[in-house]
Amino acid sequence: MPKRMKICINTGGGDAPGLNAVIEAVTMAAYNRQWEVYGIKSGYAGLLNTDEIIHLTPEKVDGIASVGGTILGSTNKGNPFKMPIANAAGEWEERDLSDKVMENFRRLRFDALVAVGGDGSLEIAHRFAEKGMPVVGVPKTIDNDMGGTVITFGFDTAVSIATEAIDRLHSTAKSHDRIMVVEVMGRDAGFIALNSGISGNADAIMIPEIPFDIEKVCDKVMDNELHGRKYGIVVVAEGAIPMGGNVITKGSGEVGRQHVVLGGMAEHVAREISKRTGKDSRSMVLGHLQRGGSPTTFDRLLALRFGAAAVRAIEQGKFDHMVGLHSPDIALVPLGEALGIHKRVQTDGDTVLTARDLGICFGD
Ligand code: F6P
Repeated sequence: MPKRMKICINTGGGDAPGLNAVIEAVTMAAYNRQWEVYGIKSGYAGLLNTDEIIHLTPEKVDGIASVGGTILGSTNKGNPFKMPIANAAGEWEERDLSDKVMENFRRLRFDALVAVGGDGSLEIAHRFAEKGMPVVGVPKTIDNDMGGTVITFGFDTAVSIATEAIDRLHSTAKSHDRIMVVEVMGRDAGFIALNSGISGNADAIMIPEIPFDIEKVCDKVMDNELHGRKYGIVVVAEGAIPMGGNVITKGSGEVGRQHVVLGGMAEHVAREISKRTGKDSRSMVLGHLQRGGSPTTFDRLLALRFGAAAVRAIEQGKFDHMVGLHSPDIALVPLGEALGIHKRVQTDGDTVLTARDLGICFGD
């Protein structure tokens, strides 16, 4: 008779539409095997302070696949291997509390952890696997910058939201003969900007993978003007880089944060366009709207498939691996291998070529 497992699941990093669908699929796939499933709150924090561990049942996850966010909470701070703790002098010190996490995991007699997260959270999962924790990873990020999978869930929703916003900006830009500059998320990868910019009929798209010359963007604006198109839409990835310049950041933000906070490039670009062309320009930042609300059907289905595949991986004893879409199937990829790949827009790939064929300017 197969072993009745006791497994747990956590969600770490920035939330992405589809996290609840993974939780639902893991819970149902485990329940249908007569296993027990527990939800760990706030990433790995819930394995340090174990007071809030939830028993997940079919009733608790019923219908959550269509709901955004995560019922388990998430954080992109609090790596247990480098936990910021205030010392007696009130200064922040990093402490390694990973042994405490291992001790609690064993004390609670968990057989496996399903870790759902981006590169930061799955890097932590991999380190726990090296310490002997049976872990299966599920990759998530709206940025789509992770290796080992063709696509991550959350990305399709973010692109759909950004495209809809860009569509709406066309009418106001046109009414005022303005240049509207929209900043989208994506960190060091330009996938959201590229896909939403093409789909939303942008005039220029700036992505981190193609450093831009603002003069080239202004040339495009003025060329459009000459041809009677007096308004323009410019899509800027938050991590876009001017030639010879740098990304714009808002500082490293909170203590223990895994990544710097990017932001401000759209405002900079709008100001430069106004100054150099005399055109009325406005900037807007889509920000966290891109992560909010229901996942698209694509993301929902992918997340459900990832969750179910993670449970099958546990059944097969395939630990220190993550699930990934290798169309049309879900594959298991060693975490160490997937984490070594930082996926970026291929500058000579079909999507960039399509944009160029459509006359979209990258500022290069
Ligand atoms: O990685 C997902 C992401 O949304 C990035 O696109 C963005 O730079 C970052 O998270 C924002 O993080 P936070 O929610 O902490 O502001």
